[in-house]
Amino acid sequence: MICCILLLLTLTSCVCGTFVVNVTQSSYQAEENHNITLEWSFTTKPHTPSDSLYILCEMFTDDLKASKVLYHLHEGVESPESQDEQFSGRVQCDKDVLREGRIRLHVSRLRTEDSGLYLCEVNTDYGANFGKCRLSVSAAVDQPETQRPTERPEPESYKRILLYAGLGLTAAAAAAALLVKLCCSSSPCFTKSPDETVNLYSEV
Ligand SMILES: *[C@@H]1O[C@H](CO)[C@@H](O)[C@H](O)[C@H]1NC(C)=O
Ligand SMILES: *[C@@H]1O[C@H](CO)[C@@H](O)[C@H](O)[C@H]1NC(C)=O
Repeated sequence: MICCILLLLTLTSCVCGTFVVNVTQSSYQAEENHNITLEWSFTTKPHTPSDSLYILCEMFTDDLKASKVLYHLHEGVESPESQDEQFSGRVQCDKDVLREGRIRLHVSRLRTEDSGLYLCEVNTDYGANFGKCRLSVSAAVDQPETQRPTERPEPESYKRILLYAGLGLTAAAAAAALLVKLCCSSSPCFTKSPDETVNLYSEV
């Protein structure tokens, strides 16, 4: 009796556990207008007719209030009419790898509203399951206006460096002048303009 229950348990766990839908990456980060490839993998069984494959990939907004279909495969045939217009013309599925149990969805020209939870549900003759991943699309940062305030302190600090450098120069010039004065007190030949005192300083 216990044996039978155990057998039943292992059998049911086998039925539920053998068919899996994995995600290759659980979360994706991308920038607006860029492209991305979302990827899932599912258990395959040899000699399975392709018309027994059903895939439904949906995007859920972060508040989970809306769901939008981005990819639908019905009996092995793509049905673009189910696709939400948000994704219209922007989603391509790699059909070659589908036979190997891989769902590769290329989403192009990303928009910030594409951010959300992506869930792919796979139904076959031998099992069904789903896998989910998260995508967050950040706004493009290419506006020069937005960069200007952060750049502004730079010329100021540059000016400050110039000022300090100037102060250093005048200090050096003062030191040179002092040196000239000391020299001139012993030999009266060096009584010229400050420009030449610098020359003298560099020669020393
Ligand atoms: C799913 O992931 C598990 C654990 O990483 C792995 O053992 C299994 O082979 C994967 N299956 C598929 C179909 O990718
Ligand atoms: C994004 O994909 C589109 C078409 O799918 C392509 O024309 C474009 O060059 C791609 N852009 C980048 C940045 O890869």
